Amino acid sequence: MGAGPELDFRSCLFLSCWLGEGTAGLRSSWVLLEEKRNGLGKTERGGLSEEKDTRWKMLSSGVCTSTVQLPGKVVVVTGANTGIGKETAKELARRGARVYLACRDVQKAELVAREIQMMTGNQQVLVRKLDLADTKSIRAFAKRFLEEEKHLHILINNAGVMMCPYSKTADGFEMHIGVNHLGHFLLTHLLLEKLKESAPSRVVNVSSLAHHLGRIHFHNLQGEKFYQSGLAYCHSKLANILFTQELARRLKASGSGVTVYSLHPGTVSSELVRHSALMRWIWWLFSFLIKTPHQGAQTSLYCALTEGLEALSGSHFRGAAALGLLCYVQAFSSCGK
Ligand SMILES: NC(=O)c1ccc[n+]([C@@H]2O[C@H](COP(=O)([O-])OP(=O)(O)OC[C@H]3O[C@@H](n4cnc5c(N)ncnc54)[C@H](OP(=O)(O)O)[C@@H]3O)[C@@H](O)[C@H]2O)c1
Repeated sequence: MGAGPELDFRSCLFLSCWLGEGTAGLRSSWVLLEEKRNGLGKTERGGLSEEKDTRWKMLSSGVCTSTVQLPGKVVVVTGANTGIGKETAKELARRGARVYLACRDVQKAELVAREIQMMTGNQQVLVRKLDLADTKSIRAFAKRFLEEEKHLHILINNAGVMMCPYSKTADGFEMHIGVNHLGHFLLTHLLLEKLKESAPSRVVNVSSLAHHLGRIHFHNLQGEKFYQSGLAYCHSKLANILFTQELARRLKASGSGVTVYSLHPGTVSSELVRHSALMRWIWWLFSFLIKTPHQGAQTSLYCALTEGLEALSGSHFRGAAALGLLCYVQAFSSCGK
């Protein structure tokens, strides 16, 4: 295994991928600026509306306009103690759902639960221990959840790690594929019967634009032959999308009322860049293009809440648009493995 220097050719590709996203944000900023100049104000794009704000970085983001309320609904959000997951959980709590914050750091999550309870007035925000880097923890979480809840209506597989130094999960999986994909894969599998019993229900997988650089190297799934932290993230995010497509196909075929979506949240200011000084610096440099976690949560909320999305089960969302993933047909054909 060789961990290459941080800024090699593939790292540059990875960075240009993120900057491409920033440029896309800039382009939509300009579109909106034009619309604002022409007095058009708020614009609707497939259920996501552009958020009116005077700050540049805000101009590129859509807002989930669904008015769906969630009293009596049960939701699980992984990695909900910070970043996009926290904002997603907050909005779902605001809409009246019983929200489980599935987090590895219980103390941090308890503080967030209290904050959400105070902000939303919803006391049904509960913390449960979930370490996606340990299948024992995932099984323990699922066991307890299945014992205490009759229903699960929305599962948001949000937790993620990016650009970690080479390390393995408790079960010996490379950390990115282990946490970002395999951990959520197992969690979803363990909760699937509950989701089916609670249908119509949804699984939302938070992927990334970085999937474009991902490849499923079956001969090197654990990164033991070669490893590059940026690309390991990309591979795991591609796995999220392939998992979404295949699960949606199987659920559709079985006639269950469970639908599945994947998404790219945009480039969002969060703790995701904690393992890379370079990425932190780039985030800082381009901070005027980067979304807030609240803005970053909008696509997850859109996939979780918007009515009439069922026919698009298996699709990948970025902002408002479902992307056709025809270019992944080849990779997809091997994802049943
Ligand atoms: N930020 C972006 O620009 C961006 C872009 C594309 C996609 N995404 C995706 O969006 C999702 C949320 O990321 P974020 O930006 O909000 O990052 P973040 O602020 O770093 O949040 C990640 C969350 O995942 C949790 N987590 C990490 N490892 C875990 C484990 N082993 N078990 C359980 N939870 C674990 C973290 O918990 P701790 O607090 O305990 O570490 C944290 O709550 C990720 O899937 C990421 O890949 C983000």
